[in-house]
Amino acid sequence: MTCRTRNVFIALALICSIYVIAKQPNMDYDVLNRIRSTIRSEDGIEILYTVGGWHNFNTTFFIESSGIGYLNDRYACSVEAAARLQHPLPVILYMTGIKKEAIARYNPWTKNFTNLKLVKVDPGILFKNTSFDRLYLDVKGQATDLTEHISDMMRVFLLKHYGGLYLDTDTVLLKNTSSFDSFLLYNLVNGIMKFESNHFLINEMYNTLAQKKYNNRSWDGLGFRTILDITKKYCKLSLEKGNFDEAGKNCNLTFLRTETFLPIKWVDWKNGLFIQSFKKLEDFRPNVMKNAYGIHFNNHLTSNIPIVRKKGQIHEIIAEQYCPLVYSTLPKVY
Ligand SMILES: *[C@@H]1O[C@H](CO)[C@@H](O)[C@H](O)[C@H]1NC(C)=O
Ligand SMILES: *[C@@H]1O[C@H](CO)[C@@H](O)[C@H](O)[C@H]1NC(C)=O
Ligand SMILES: *[C@@H]1O[C@H](CO)[C@@H](O)[C@H](O)[C@H]1NC(C)=O
Ligand SMILES: *[C@@H]1O[C@H](CO)[C@@H](O)[C@H](O)[C@H]1NC(C)=O
Ligand SMILES: *[C@@H]1O[C@H](CO)[C@@H](O)[C@H](O)[C@H]1NC(C)=O
Ligand SMILES: *[C@@H]1O[C@H](CO)[C@@H](O)[C@H](O)[C@H]1NC(C)=O
Repeated sequence: MTCRTRNVFIALALICSIYVIAKQPNMDYDVLNRIRSTIRSEDGIEILYTVGGWHNFNTTFFIESSGIGYLNDRYACSVEAAARLQHPLPVILYMTGIKKEAIARYNPWTKNFTNLKLVKVDPGILFKNTSFDRLYLDVKGQATDLTEHISDMMRVFLLKHYGGLYLDTDTVLLKNTSSFDSFLLYNLVNGIMKFESNHFLINEMYNTLAQKKYNNRSWDGLGFRTILDITKKYCKLSLEKGNFDEAGKNCNLTFLRTETFLPIKWVDWKNGLFIQSFKKLEDFRPNVMKNAYGIHFNNHLTSNIPIVRKKGQIHEIIAEQYCPLVYSTLPKVY
């Protein structure tokens, strides 16, 4: 090879690689349109709407990622309570599956609550060609905790791209929280949090997850652990010192007391609070309840315990007042 042809060769190789780099699809390109097209491809499901313009900082959203195709009654109550309290600001329920039979059940809600939308989303399509593609394939290849991990990823993905208030489906709002700024709770759970889209901390969380080596022995690896690591690093948060105000300033968000949404501690649930009877909500720790903006039901401790109507269990007292439409359709035991 002469010197000249070698130079031409190098120049060509350079041009080619620039071309290849330029042709790389933008990894996180146009996620909104992706959700929209996912929905359009679904025939015969009228309840599905496009998300365009709906999901923003003012939006409250839930995720049902088990794919079973419907919502259980308790989760339905959480969604109605949010739609009611945040009205007219948007509430979206993302479901990874939705059965046609389930739609009749949700029609009364979506008819009455013009601010509520149900959106079916296929996580495989949602994450395709994005920074979450690889982690999703890793997670999908595993047998355990698939539902939780997909939900962990989806909430960060949606918060990064659109922002908003994310609530676990076992959280019933008790007050309008629309005016809250970006926040995390003192206990750093990922089940209740609010972010502006592309807030630097949610971007860090997103990037951390994107590079995460999935460990199937760590059920909280994509949630609490990640938040703990990044808040330590970027907000200079020390759980020992409890320097939440200072850390919040460092990170441009608010750390809210855990009781704001978890007024009932897990040890109380564990000690049988869920089956006790009350006349009204305030009968249980009035001061704590008065200041709570929501109540997280600690699903893994309570979901297998039946709620018997007219018995006065905390969930029923709340349901009657905060989700009357769902309440009116509840069976005797739910
Ligand atoms: C959120 O709602 C407030 C009013 O409640 C409005 O001023 C603001 O522009 C909204 N933000 C977005 C991103 O829509
Ligand atoms: C909830 O708060 C938002 C923002 O402050 C307000 O626009 C909306 O009307 C409130 N909704 C209800 C039902 O109080
Ligand atoms: C319908 O929704 C509105 C808020 O948009 C609420 O005030 C009203 O109580 C709801 N109706 C029923 C039957 O729940
Ligand atoms: C992913 O990228 C490939 C190759 O660029 C393209 O054919 C495909 O349509 C993309 N899929 C989505 C969901 O964006
Ligand atoms: C975790 O992954 C390893 C290796 O792929 C596998 O042998 C093991 O059964 C998995 N454990 C669980 C709890 O899924
Ligand atoms: C902090 O957040 C506010 C909105 O909550 C935003 O307007 C401001 O630019 C942010 N400041 C920094 C330094 O990121």
